Amino acid sequence: MMRQAVVVGAGGISGAWLPMLGEEGVEVAALVDLDEARARTQAARYRLDPLITTDLRRAIRRIRPDFVVDLTVPAAHSAVTCTALRLGCHVIGEKPMAASMAAARRMVRTAEETGRIYMVSQSRRYHAPHAGLARALAGGAVGRLTALNCAFYIGAHFGGFRDQMAHPLILDMAIHHFDLARLFSGADPRAVYAASFNPAGSWYAGDAAATCVFEMSNGVIFTYTGSWCAEGMHTSWHGDWRVIGERGTVVYARDQPPAGERVAGDGGFHRPLEPLAIEPLEVPSGQRGALREFLAALDGGPVPQGECHDNIQSLAMVFGAIASARRGRRVTIRV
Ligand SMILES: NC(=O)c1ccc[n+]([C@@H]2O[C@H](COP(=O)([O-])OP(=O)(O)OC[C@H]3O[C@@H](n4cnc5c(N)ncnc54)[C@H](O)[C@@H]3O)[C@@H](O)[C@H]2O)c1
Repeated sequence: MMRQAVVVGAGGISGAWLPMLGEEGVEVAALVDLDEARARTQAARYRLDPLITTDLRRAIRRIRPDFVVDLTVPAAHSAVTCTALRLGCHVIGEKPMAASMAAARRMVRTAEETGRIYMVSQSRRYHAPHAGLARALAGGAVGRLTALNCAFYIGAHFGGFRDQMAHPLILDMAIHHFDLARLFSGADPRAVYAASFNPAGSWYAGDAAATCVFEMSNGVIFTYTGSWCAEGMHTSWHGDWRVIGERGTVVYARDQPPAGERVAGDGGFHRPLEPLAIEPLEVPSGQRGALREFLAALDGGPVPQGECHDNIQSLAMVFGAIASARRGRRVTIRV
């Protein structure tokens, strides 16, 4: 039997979700957007015939869906998701979880109080090189990890909400990289020192560039440097990574397969090294991977990655970095 979902938010990212939901056996029974015309346009584009409304409560009461998909802008996530949870629905929503830690904590509390699952779709976890790299690192491919570095440089002309955000890079994009740092290191954040900037010539109102140094719970140092207004010689959207362990290094950059070298003997100015191949781990990719884990959890399967109690750790890196940049000093990260 097909499951039914109420989808909230018919903007850009709904183009990834609407066709995919049907392919995964989920009927889009209602499409809710403050801008009804947008919802109508998207429904027509994907040949769907959902209830179209601006009223989420009405849609949920009428449809009684199996779950709600929250694809609204970050500032609306907390209200939309808490409303859905309180009306008895499980929720899968887009990243970032919320526009503040207080709002995110409210979402976690509401999931606890209602006994519903709230999962954030952190799409970049579901990518064969990432899953393969995480598996190899957890298996000790380069020994005990000591440092992770991620560089992200893209000139991205979006228009829309990102142009007005105070910290578009850190809040809307670096959340992916911070979350990958948690995946690769297998650790949670403890502290950060960050500086953020809006480079000359930037087309963003807020800070489109940042440099951050995170201390992770297992002692790993994660350094991040990025800009969303850097024209030319773009890095990968996943970031260009260098991962260093006591026995070797992996480089994963410009969307080439991750590859490394590890120590193969003693002696010499440089120790003898051997190549290290990182096998990809095939997983359903992007939002589809997140949705499959969510659907499995609804059937009593394991707690999905991105479940709110876990994902709030990635969001805490975002708000820790923003707080540090504002105060000009290292801050402790608390969830
Ligand atoms: N995983 C990814 O790679 C990825 C990529 C792009 C966007 N996203 C995320 O998806 C979310 C949406 O991004 P987008 O690019 O589609 O934005 P968008 O501005 O194109 O669309 C957002 C839509 O939500 C609607 N909306 C806002 N508040 C609402 C509310 N309270 N109730 C109902 N509708 C509401 C708006 O009218 C708009 O149609 C953001 O959180 C963004 O970070 C994720």
